[in-house]
Amino acid sequence: SGIVVLISGSGSNLQAIIDQVQQGHINGEIRAVISNRADAFGLERARTAGIPAIILDHRVFASREAFDQMLARTIEAFTPDVVVMAGFMRILTPEFVQQFMGRLINIHPALLPKYKGLDTHQRAIDAGDKEHGCTVHFVTAELDDGPNIIQAVVSIAADDDAKSLSVKVQQQEHIIYPLAVKWFTENRLSMIEGQAYFDGNIL
Ligand code: GRF
Repeated sequence: SGIVVLISGSGSNLQAIIDQVQQGHINGEIRAVISNRADAFGLERARTAGIPAIILDHRVFASREAFDQMLARTIEAFTPDVVVMAGFMRILTPEFVQQFMGRLINIHPALLPKYKGLDTHQRAIDAGDKEHGCTVHFVTAELDDGPNIIQAVVSIAADDDAKSLSVKVQQQEHIIYPLAVKWFTENRLSMIEGQAYFDGNIL
């Protein structure tokens, strides 16, 4: 299967997926990594792995629509079966989401539907939550709102701050995101009418 990964930053989730492909656990090929930021370290990770690393700077486009149209054309050129958002810090237009619906997935550092948006670790601590985590989900038009595919839970310790909590959560991200990509490449995941399915069973 063909995989395209969208990033904006460090790309540690990208690295986890690269590693699983290289070790033969994911039966797929990362055909391109696309970043909207030229300084994203994930581009370096892609180059090291021999994967085309593409920069598409959103600031040179006149509108969000124009950027998303070019992004969509760039992605489609690699005919991916799955488009993996891994720390891609852009809100997508409904047109873009519609075009890739059912093959577009994201990871969010919270137990969705809790804590959509930014600053999730601090918000969980401030709320006095005992548990936090991360969610892989299908992307729909609403931000951080698509049906869940898999979640990982971590416990919040009394002495955790946002930094220590983010380290714990990221360790889990690096496990569940490659797993979700693996399932996708095995045709085990689908989304029909806004509902996610695994092996034909409702998630
Ligand atoms: C992760 O915490 C992910 O949940 C969020 O952005 C971060 C990306 O980290 N969407 P990295 O670039 O994969 O290291």
